[in-house]
Amino acid sequence: MATNGTELSFAESARQIAENARYIAGGANSNFRLGMAGGPLVFERGEGPYLHDADGNRLIDYYCAMGATVLGHTPGPVLEAVRKQSEKGILYAGQAPIEYEAAKLICERIPCAERLRFGSSGSEVAQAAMRLARAFTGRNSIVKFEGHYHGWFDNILWSTAPGLNAAGPEDAPTPVIGSKGQDPAAGEGLSILGWNDLAVLEARLAKGDVAAVLMEPAMCNQGAIAPAPGYLEGALAACRKHGALLIFDEVITGFRLARGGAQERFGVTPDLCIMAKAIANGFPVAAIAGRADVIDLFADGVLHGGTFNAQPMVMAALVATQTMLTPEHYARSSVNGQRLQDGIRAILAEEGIKAQVGGFPLMFHVAFGLDQPARNYRDVARADKATYVRFAHALLKRGVRALERGAWFVSSEHDAGVVDATLEAVRGAAREVKAAA
Ligand SMILES: Cc1ncc(COP(=O)(O)O)c(C=O)c1O
Repeated sequence: MATNGTELSFAESARQIAENARYIAGGANSNFRLGMAGGPLVFERGEGPYLHDADGNRLIDYYCAMGATVLGHTPGPVLEAVRKQSEKGILYAGQAPIEYEAAKLICERIPCAERLRFGSSGSEVAQAAMRLARAFTGRNSIVKFEGHYHGWFDNILWSTAPGLNAAGPEDAPTPVIGSKGQDPAAGEGLSILGWNDLAVLEARLAKGDVAAVLMEPAMCNQGAIAPAPGYLEGALAACRKHGALLIFDEVITGFRLARGGAQERFGVTPDLCIMAKAIANGFPVAAIAGRADVIDLFADGVLHGGTFNAQPMVMAALVATQTMLTPEHYARSSVNGQRLQDGIRAILAEEGIKAQVGGFPLMFHVAFGLDQPARNYRDVARADKATYVRFAHALLKRGVRALERGAWFVSSEHDAGVVDATLEAVRGAAREVKAAA
């Protein structure tokens, strides 16, 4: 329902998707944009915290471009910096001062970043990180965790959201492949473990063959789960002891949990980290950063390429974004994000919907049906997803776009008034879902 009480229609989006499925598979350019209740949407433009869709609806947007737009959809200084840079030509296949400025800023801000290389997507720099770790250690195995996502490539798209019927025992998960057509052999170097369990990780590392432990330092693709006290410290110590590198995937947590990412927030500095999404507020920039002795292998035999790497316009977007990510930005946005999170928790409780609402001020998660906060993927997987999808759809009909997997991303543009309007929609959606139960 819009504020005047009528239910929003998405008929024109549906028409355009159907028509253009003639040219684009499924009518969308990422599988993560397909399959949601109400159908995938077509947007005409963004504006601060809002998206305007093809039906003329103005939606309050909590997808935030899957976490990227930490400054909202139209931050003036970022757009202006890109426009100015575009006047200097498009791509040089050489170096530009703006990429050195960008690199210096990130190295100053990210605790582990002695050196870095830029790329264009999180999936791609995850590959670079694993290659680097294998070259540095001379080992092949990579440890990843159930429910963590590090991109869509064959060697890492395993057990990202496995069905519990296929996932095997919690203390020894069965690796579950992520896509039809994926090469099963590409997963042979991979060990899948449950996250937030130090004893299990230590036991695996003790075998002495692990090149790297790759993790989301706070689990944000499934839930919004902080590491257990001592877990990150213990993981780092165990990696040191057994000669493996610790890699934090800060593609979501970077510039969101704190300006210096989860590593700053939790005070644990990994050997390497990867970043993307919010680093340039939605412009296609990714980075792999870390220890100089590891990253420097890129200049000494480990191949890393990419026609679009450090494209000057997106580097200008990065510098302008980072300039806007001040301590005041985090203080102000966090107040609004926390009020939203607390408000949703209170309304769901008042309306008699059992839920866990938790996480971080600028990224939190709502799971229906759980008695306790989730600690790992197995807990999240037990949530009542079907009812939550109905809730997300009820929100959409009221002008609020939130991810069906329960994640909420907050930007600097979600101010007090936007939060108030959102909470009103949350109340209505909660009542609708409750009434239908
Ligand atoms: C934690 C994490 N790592 C890696 C990726 C892959 O990044 P990209 O979609 O830019 O390839 C994502 C994407 O959502 C992510 O959430």
